[in-house]
Amino acid sequence: MSRSYKSLDMAYTSPTDSEILDVCIIAAREAGQIIRDTCGKIAVEKTKATVQDLVTVADKNCQDLIEARLKERFPFADFLGEENVAAGAIASAQALQSFLTPPRDLLFIVDPIDGTTNFVSGIPFSVVSIGVARRNELCVGVIYEPYRDELFTSMKGQGAFLNGEKRLSVSPESLLINSVLGFGLGSSSRVATTMIKGLSALEPVTRGQRALGSAALHLAYVAAGRLTVFYECDLSSWDISAGSLLVNEAGGRVTDTRGVPYTLETRDILASNGKGNIHSQIVDLLVKVGADSAPIPLS
Ligand code: IPD
Ligand code: CA
Repeated sequence: MSRSYKSLDMAYTSPTDSEILDVCIIAAREAGQIIRDTCGKIAVEKTKATVQDLVTVADKNCQDLIEARLKERFPFADFLGEENVAAGAIASAQALQSFLTPPRDLLFIVDPIDGTTNFVSGIPFSVVSIGVARRNELCVGVIYEPYRDELFTSMKGQGAFLNGEKRLSVSPESLLINSVLGFGLGSSSRVATTMIKGLSALEPVTRGQRALGSAALHLAYVAAGRLTVFYECDLSSWDISAGSLLVNEAGGRVTDTRGVPYTLETRDILASNGKGNIHSQIVDLLVKVGADSAPIPLS
């Protein structure tokens, strides 16, 4: 049931997590249909922070659609979408910061197409990612993968689900050597150089490594028990907020690459099934080889 209270001079009804989830699903499915129908058919409009950081008109169109759907139902909510933010790590961290203080009652954090390079190349691995926070704590996460029609959802304390019916659970392996690790190299040499150092150290001690081209998809796959681990430095809140809730709700563990529990501000992420010593062994290894962070240059 909805809870009512006064905000400034206007009556505002705070929606339940389940009401929020329903609207996020509608928005994600609509945007997902555009992604599926136009994958490989849309040219790059421009590059952003680096030549590897792509944007197309579909990114903006999908975001506008999602924002319109969410605002129709929740006009009081705040909205942080990738396409409204200037390029680069500093702008992305600052944009998030501007919504954290003071904490917002309801904040939508949206990546309309996570996996834009795949989308442009016609590779069917891209998702819509919508994370929702109440006063800086995640309450709802939705990741929609339109090609296989896979909808990953979670509400805080309620578990994580695939297509609304199958409860998700992280994978059971408890040894690092039996782990399959997902990763991305980001879109700058600064991040890629750090990541390659980490991956070189992890390669001999894991079963395999996979780069699917979408951080949010990797996280959904950790929640679904398809990947054991996801590791990547310098991601933005819209890449990982929804997926972090999914992994936690599926019984896994999400921290930064030094083992500090995930918050909305986390940029260097390590998500795992949390079994045995897998998580701490990876943290130790990354710190040892200096692959736990790709510092943002201040100028
Ligand atoms: C990118 C993807 C990719 C990751 C990059 C992200 P985008 O997001 O998640 O897997 O390696 O760091 O920026 O640009 O496709 O939304
Ligand atoms: Ca994107």
